[in-house]
Amino acid sequence: MTPATAPCGGPEATARPEPVISLRQVSTRYGDHVVHAGLDLEINRAEIFALIGGSGSGKSTLLREMILLQRPDTGAIEVLGTDLMTLDAAQAQTLRQRWGVMFQHGGLFGSLSVLENVGLPLREHTTLDSALIDSIATWKLGLAGLAPEVGALFPAELSGGMVKRAALARALALDPELLFLDEPTAGLDPVSAAGVDALVVQLRDLFGLTIVMITHDLDTLWQVADRVAVLADGRVQGVGSMAELSQRSEPAIRQFFEGPRGRAAQAEAKPASRAAAPGRPAAGAATSAASLLPTSNQEPSSTPK
Ligand SMILES: Nc1ncnc2c1ncn2[C@@H]1O[C@H](COP(=O)(O)OP(=O)(O)O)[C@@H](O)[C@H]1O
Ligand SMILES: [Mg+2]
Repeated sequence: MTPATAPCGGPEATARPEPVISLRQVSTRYGDHVVHAGLDLEINRAEIFALIGGSGSGKSTLLREMILLQRPDTGAIEVLGTDLMTLDAAQAQTLRQRWGVMFQHGGLFGSLSVLENVGLPLREHTTLDSALIDSIATWKLGLAGLAPEVGALFPAELSGGMVKRAALARALALDPELLFLDEPTAGLDPVSAAGVDALVVQLRDLFGLTIVMITHDLDTLWQVADRVAVLADGRVQGVGSMAELSQRSEPAIRQFFEGPRGRAAQAEAKPASRAAAPGRPAAGAATSAASLLPTSNQEPSSTPK
């Protein structure tokens, strides 16, 4: 992974947004059940983009379509300049190595050590020798804020926050340009969630990664996401920063800002400065390159529970 030569400050720092994912008129149905009905969406390079929507609104299906695990019935999807509807097997193989995916429950193999899990994509896709793969995997663990010793542990020995970090380290194994995260902070305590949030921002700032996530975490949405797309009734009902979306009046959008949780997150958030909510470190804090060096970016408790 090559650090960006100039700091990447997200879309506002770029003169012209460069789409790296574009969906046009995407329609998906399961039998008679229409999930996407002519959905359009564009995601730009180096932005942190969140997909939100009620349960069953088609977020996971959309994510699977972006990573070649599923095909829509009609429409066009382009990722990193490649048309996903017409690509051949060799192009698909190449493309899969340009993105990393973190599944909701981590998706780590329980029978492999953390280090083996992180090194797996390198074993599958490169001819590097084992010692080099282990060093790269240890480096990726450090990038994800885990100490080298964690590599010897098995997934069952990790705390929830450490599982997410290990899964993130594995997603970073092949130096992706694009990162897909399904509920990266779900089930974490607030301190671990804030740690993962900070890591996401660091990865974007340091490497110019484009990050697409599904999340229900209002703190993440307010403090980390540059833009958010609201899915409902088979389409994107609105796209914008949380501050922009909070001004919209459509019921499908309003529901994310109403109710006690929505109001509390909104009241605590200072999106312009990405300032911390009370009791939570600022998501954008500590984004210097030095803070990403292995062993200097540890979670407070990087020993197993
Ligand atoms: N493999 C499948 N077969 C049939 N229906 C499915 C399948 N996957 C998802 N669905 C349905 O499609 C809708 C959208 O699902 P999903 O994309 O998982 O939504 P979300 O992630 O937003 O909760 C839901 O109604 C779900 O029940
Ligand atoms: Mg889902």
